[in-house]
Amino acid sequence: MIAAGRVRVNGAVVRDGFYEVDRFTSVEVDGKTVQVGANAVYLMVNKPAGILSATSDLEYRTVVDLLDHPQKEELHLVGRLDRASTGLVLLTNDGRWSKLLMHPERNVPKVYEVETKEVIPAEAVEAFARGFYFHTEDITTLPAELELLGPNQARVTLVEGRYHQIKRMFHRVGAQVRSLHRASIGPWRLPEDMAPGQWREVSPEWHQLEGGNDVVNRVNPAYT
Ligand code: URA
Repeated sequence: MIAAGRVRVNGAVVRDGFYEVDRFTSVEVDGKTVQVGANAVYLMVNKPAGILSATSDLEYRTVVDLLDHPQKEELHLVGRLDRASTGLVLLTNDGRWSKLLMHPERNVPKVYEVETKEVIPAEAVEAFARGFYFHTEDITTLPAELELLGPNQARVTLVEGRYHQIKRMFHRVGAQVRSLHRASIGPWRLPEDMAPGQWREVSPEWHQLEGGNDVVNRVNPAYT
């Protein structure tokens, strides 16, 4: 049927038997739909402090509670932030996309802005680059970039996401984290005009940079 050109994928005839389809692909044979492609959803949220990085919780409001998207119940989080942390959280119903983003070997950089209680010592830059041994997990953290922005301010780029990693790394150099904000994950960066609690759809393309002009920030009226 494929060789005979009777199969259409997303509306176009496909003659390659190895062409990969998934549940987001629509497939027709002889003009009859055999699979309706599901709508793939990719969102970014600017998580406010106090909101849980989870889909549902009995005690706390969650990132999903911030959304008023019709498919919000299908979504899962691409990595989490501590409840007190703020900034970029990605959500999707496309498991392949989130797996790729989280895959340890892909080394997707995540950028955090940090404020500390104590002054950050200059040696911290070298220590972050060398990595820290975490006894509980028996691992040494991968080289992380620490940029000092002020005595108590820094930007950190991580390519992994261990439990409380940033807090633990700063603790090792004698500085407690006062606030932690995630600015970006790979090419997905929180836009300047996006207030805490707002969300918007994003393109899943890895080469995308900023959202286009047609992208609007949304806010769930239930939480305004
Ligand atoms: N590291 C932390 O300690 N907390 C976060 O929320 C993210 C990274």
